[in-house]
This record gives sequence, structure tokens and C-alpha cells, in this order.
Amino acid sequence: MNIPLVDLKAQYESIKEEIDAAIAEVISKTAFIGGPFVESFEKAFAEFCGVKHCIGVGNGTDALFIALKTLGIGQGDEVIVPANSFIATSEAVTLTGARVAFVDIDPKTYNMDPHKLEDYLKARKSQGARGKGLTRNPKPATSKNGLRLPPHASRLTPQPMAVIPVHLYGQPADMDPILEISKKYNLKVVEDCAQAHGAEYKGRKIGSLGDMGCFSFYPGKNLGAYGDGGAIITNDDELARKARMFANHGRIEKYDHEMEGVNSRLDGIQAAILKVKLKHLNDWTEKRRKNAYLYNEYLKYSDVIIPTEINDVKAVYHLYVVRAKEGSREKLQDHLKSNGISTGIHYPIALPNLKAYSFMSTNEDSFPEATKTSKEIVSLPMYPELKQSEINSITNTIKQFKF
Ligand SMILES: Cc1ncc(COP(=O)(O)O)c(C=O)c1O
Repeated sequence: MNIPLVDLKAQYESIKEEIDAAIAEVISKTAFIGGPFVESFEKAFAEFCGVKHCIGVGNGTDALFIALKTLGIGQGDEVIVPANSFIATSEAVTLTGARVAFVDIDPKTYNMDPHKLEDYLKARKSQGARGKGLTRNPKPATSKNGLRLPPHASRLTPQPMAVIPVHLYGQPADMDPILEISKKYNLKVVEDCAQAHGAEYKGRKIGSLGDMGCFSFYPGKNLGAYGDGGAIITNDDELARKARMFANHGRIEKYDHEMEGVNSRLDGIQAAILKVKLKHLNDWTEKRRKNAYLYNEYLKYSDVIIPTEINDVKAVYHLYVVRAKEGSREKLQDHLKSNGISTGIHYPIALPNLKAYSFMSTNEDSFPEATKTSKEIVSLPMYPELKQSEINSITNTIKQFKF
């Protein structure tokens, strides 16, 4: 038996002719950067997500960074992210000059816990009310030469300005309470949809619920390019205009730069590949969901905890993550490996516990759910082409393991 965690080759084999033709067409038209293939994919992906605008960018990390910059986030601001995600989520915040704040996760969904978000914001507000310097300075700050400083410079300490709910593993975060809390505390909402293309929350596609939605098209994602790629979606015309401009050196016309930006563009070949793959995405999602339900069924009476879908959502199972008793996870992985079954851990260290954030002086008890989760979770093979017989073998191998 040899079952990989993901199988990109199997997917390519199933659409080889379409993909090869699409790549050849881009090359024959030398439409490498911008142009008709990028425009056509952007239009199709916006339609797929049920939004007005899609802006192709270089990768998912850039998508988050550009979205935050477009919303005016920078030095002196704080952006709240869940304690369980890939580092790109928090990295994008720091790239803007803003400060990252973590909130703990719901141990059932592994996504940001809206109650903990509200608790955090309440605590920040009450600290501010006690005069601990967490509210805006009412007087505009001036520099030594009397010039007015940018608005963020007039704040005593960083202010929560935005939140990034992550739809991790393809499971939609609980957006209604997150949106309600964000409205109450005046936070912008940037959805990290890197692992959840096509997932739905109460009948709406994720990415269309907040101010902006950010996608990665890294090859292993549910909608993956054959290299790096990413996109930002939004319904707001002005945000779309600004994001497109910022991603392309701050310009709309060739040498007319309204500001400095970055160079982060989706290229023609990736866009053409993604356009082909987008046609198959709903079918692949249904296959992933079917595989997840087979796993759920076969693992119902086992010693691992299966994933939970919250009410009224459609999860897209980028990953199928189960949970094993603390201390047994690595042994279970070894047992599966010795039977030819690959597994992964997403992620072995919760974000606040990474060395990258040691300057924050938090410890493992600061985010207990994310910390505990990181020690118990294991991702099983998951891709549309995974066969029922393989799921049967994987789950039987798990059931043979003595926890
Ligand atoms: C949750 C999450 N956010 C952001 C990203 C960043 O995407 P990219 O690798 O395209 O920069 C990833 C990709 O791994 C991700 O999983």
C-alpha cells in the first residue's frame, strides 16, 4: 500500500489534455503577464465566489498583505488572528507594520472562537477605559517641527483595527458572530480563504462575507496552480481599484503611479491553468466531501475524534484532520507510515508558540486550546481521487492501532 497525503499527479492525469492546450495557448499568444487569460480567470472566479471583483496576485500571503494595506492597516494598528493557522496569516499583518494579536480557537472546529474574540476586545476596551493607553489620543499628534503626523502616530498603543478569520482545513469559520462583533468594535474583516475555495457559510461563498477575501492557489490547494498564485475578492469598487493598483506598483496606467505599491501579479499561464481547473472544482469538492463522510462513517467507533462541521455550512475538506489522545499522535503516524500511509500535521506548533513570536512573551497556557490541538491533530490523506477502498484501508489501519 502507498497512499500519499495529496496526489497532484492523479489530478493532472485526469485533465492533461485541457491543461496542456491551455498552457500552449498562453505561450502562442505570449500573454505572460496580465492580458486576456488573467482577466478571464478573474471574471470567472469572481462569479464563482458571488462577488463583483477578483484581483489576481502573486500568492496567498501577498493577497492578505495587499488586502490589509488596501484597508489602510499599518504601523500603530493591531490585527487579530486565530492562534491556529499557517504563519502566512500573521506574517502578512507584521509585513504591513501592524501588530499581531492572537485569540484562541474553538477546539471543535479548530477555527477562531468568536467568544474569545469578544472577550479579548472587551478586555482591551476596559484596559483603555482604565487609562492604560489603549484608546486613541484625542489630540492629533504633531512632530517636533509642528507638522501633523499620520493618524496612526497619534495613537498611544496599537488599536485593534481588523480581524482575519481563517477558514482552516476548508471548514468555514463561524462568520455571523465574528461579523457582528467586528461591527460592534469597528473592525475590518479580511477572510483568509487559502484552504477553502468554494466553501459556504449559510448559503454564501466564503470570501464574500467580510470586507475582502484572500485566496492562495499554491499547487496543493483545492484550486491549485502549477506554481504560486493568489487572489483577493471584494464587492467594494473602491477597495478593488486600490488593491489592483497596489499590487501593480501603485499604477493603473503604464507609467502613471498614484503611489508606491508592490509587484504581485498572477501570471497568464497560472491564470489559464486555474480557469481550466475552476470548471472541475465543484465536482472535486463533492468528491472531497464524499470522502470525508466515508472517513466519518468508518471512524465513528474508533479512538480518534472526527472533524465537526458547524450548522448550515458547506466545508470543502482541504484537509481531513482527526484528533488522537495526547502522546499517541506520533505513534499513530508511525503505525500508518509503516503501512504505507502518509500523514501530516497542520500545524505542529500553534502560532503564538512559534519562535517567531517569542518576543510576545506568551506561553503554552496563554492559548490552551490551540496548544493542546497542535499536540493531538493529524491530517489523513485527502484528495478527490482518493478511493473508497483506500479510505477503508486507512481507517482499518487506524482501528488496529492500540491507543
Ligand atoms: C491558511 C493559509 N493562509 C495563507 C496561506 C498563504 O498562501 P501562499 O502559500 O500562496 O502564500 C496559506 C498557504 O499555505 C494558508 O494555508
